[in-house]
Amino acid sequence: MLFKAGIIAFTLLVGSLAFPAQDDMSIFFDHTDPESRIVGGVTAGPVPWMVGLSQGSLVRSFVCGGSIITNRHILTAAHCVDHVFSGGRLSSTLRATVGTNRWNSGGTSYTLARNISHPNYVSSIIKNDLSFLVTTNNIVFNNNIAPVVLSYNNVGTGVQTRVNGWGRIRTGGSLATNLMELRSTVVDNNFCVETVARVARELRIAAPAVQPHLEICTFVAVNQGTCNGDSGSALVRHDNNQQVGIVSWGLPCARGAPDMFARVSAYRSWIENALRQ
Ligand SMILES: *[C@@H]1O[C@H](CO)[C@@H](O)[C@H](O)[C@H]1NC(C)=O
Repeated sequence: MLFKAGIIAFTLLVGSLAFPAQDDMSIFFDHTDPESRIVGGVTAGPVPWMVGLSQGSLVRSFVCGGSIITNRHILTAAHCVDHVFSGGRLSSTLRATVGTNRWNSGGTSYTLARNISHPNYVSSIIKNDLSFLVTTNNIVFNNNIAPVVLSYNNVGTGVQTRVNGWGRIRTGGSLATNLMELRSTVVDNNFCVETVARVARELRIAAPAVQPHLEICTFVAVNQGTCNGDSGSALVRHDNNQQVGIVSWGLPCARGAPDMFARVSAYRSWIENALRQ
């Protein structure tokens, strides 16, 4: 039981955990501190590559973030796609909204034709957590809507990064209406592996091991970090705005452990191949 709860607790930072009735993953909140704040971030300015993924016909529910890579390809986390995929296809109500800092109003929304998920995505340990969503029509670029450049250079300790998201601004609380932003620093691999393991023990969560060659860890401070709804969003270098990671997982939320991002540089050949599809 502890193990099951733990697995659920660390895993998914998808946003639609707001609807517990249909969703086992609501147990996530049984293990979190209602006072813990995510992001501890600030309201973001325009982020031209930012994508809000949402679904639902009458009431739209937020799913995840993503980033525009080409006029047809949106990069997100594989666990986000898993969440909106059933019966062999993507949810027909899934939309990718761009050009707005409010996921539920303004901007332009695109339908999605298909996904290209990493074939070695492992949901139980959240590894290789990358997927592309291919839009049905070309995304039209303008001042507010533009692709982000992917960086395949290795990102080392001390690099300053930025992440944006509509994730919860506190555990169990509501999603952010306006896009938020958090600046954080890439931490040492051993520090990350050890700190995640220690905090997981303290919280009695069975977290998977961090694999630094596949995952970037960032940390700011206790009470600052990513939370549900931030999954799939881009981690960019603060100095050049190039995307180096994808929000993947973390211990619930902002409890003093680093946050984990799929490491873009570890996936160059898969990404380049997917972009040709
Ligand atoms: C699309 O996503 C689903 C759900 O994760 C996965 O089973 C399927 O293999 C993916 N399709 C491709 C072509 O990657």
